[in-house]
Amino acid sequence: MTGTTPFRIRVVDVAAEAEGVKSFGVVRCDGEAFPYWSPGAHLDLALPEGLGRQYSLCGGSADGMTLRFAVLREPAGRGGSRFLHEAVAVGDTLEVAALRNNFPLVEADRYLLVAGGIGITPLLAMARQLESQGRDWTLLYGGRNRASMAFLEPLAEFGDRVIVRPADECGLLDIAGFLGADAPGKVAYCCGPEPLIAAVEAHCADWPEEALQLERFHPRMQAAPPAAAGSFLVELRQSGITIEVPADRTIADVAEDAGVYIPRSCNEGTCGTCITKVIEGLPDHRDSFLRPKQRAENKRIMPCCSRSLSARLVLDV
Ligand code: FES
Repeated sequence: MTGTTPFRIRVVDVAAEAEGVKSFGVVRCDGEAFPYWSPGAHLDLALPEGLGRQYSLCGGSADGMTLRFAVLREPAGRGGSRFLHEAVAVGDTLEVAALRNNFPLVEADRYLLVAGGIGITPLLAMARQLESQGRDWTLLYGGRNRASMAFLEPLAEFGDRVIVRPADECGLLDIAGFLGADAPGKVAYCCGPEPLIAAVEAHCADWPEEALQLERFHPRMQAAPPAAAGSFLVELRQSGITIEVPADRTIADVAEDAGVYIPRSCNEGTCGTCITKVIEGLPDHRDSFLRPKQRAENKRIMPCCSRSLSARLVLDV
């Protein structure tokens, strides 16, 4: 449903969606249609100076010839959003490393979507699809104030399915009131800043894992310093090699040097692209992607950032 072959895109439209938010309409430079994508998908952009950034898709044309993604300008960020806001205009081209979806819609009877700020981007695409399929869905959308909240106009078309709650008018989002109790067939989606995700995670702590789907922009704040900082061995079982990972490098980097590429995107444990099965050993989880139950099970690891508590790990790579 998505593609991992790099291609170039050309910007054909730039729109101001809200204070600090621009959306970019793009086509492929080779004139081809984009790979099939579904709501929740993002573009991995390979920006100048080695910046790799992920931007969620908010829409695209039905024939697959154009896509649109939205970008919040983050002055204190690492430079990707500043570059797109300040240096990219209609006619410019960009490199796409991949089109992926780590936040897909799962089958459910009822969808409760919670968006904070720019987190509306993938949820707008989800809302459109759920509405077109006649599904039961509701979206709770919070932001600092109305001027900072993108896509209020298209969302207004959905009537009372969308609850808009700017903080300066309404205060904090009523997560508990909106999500209610866990129930069979109910699934919650949340994308937004860390405090919002943490509040939703806390409310849904006892829900079945698949009943809560999250997408983070930034790594979760780690409560404790990393436990193990030394080197360790990793057997890449499928590849038939064992590597030694020193304290200052990641499993994924050392594996790549040894000729084994583990697909990656964010390189900071948030996107889920590099998820890998653990066959033996005890991971030292440092990601922000795995849910608490998954971390406790130790059956998966994010090798872009996580390490090992045991002297040796065996991975299904
Ligand atoms: S590359 Fe994003 S979680 Fe590892």
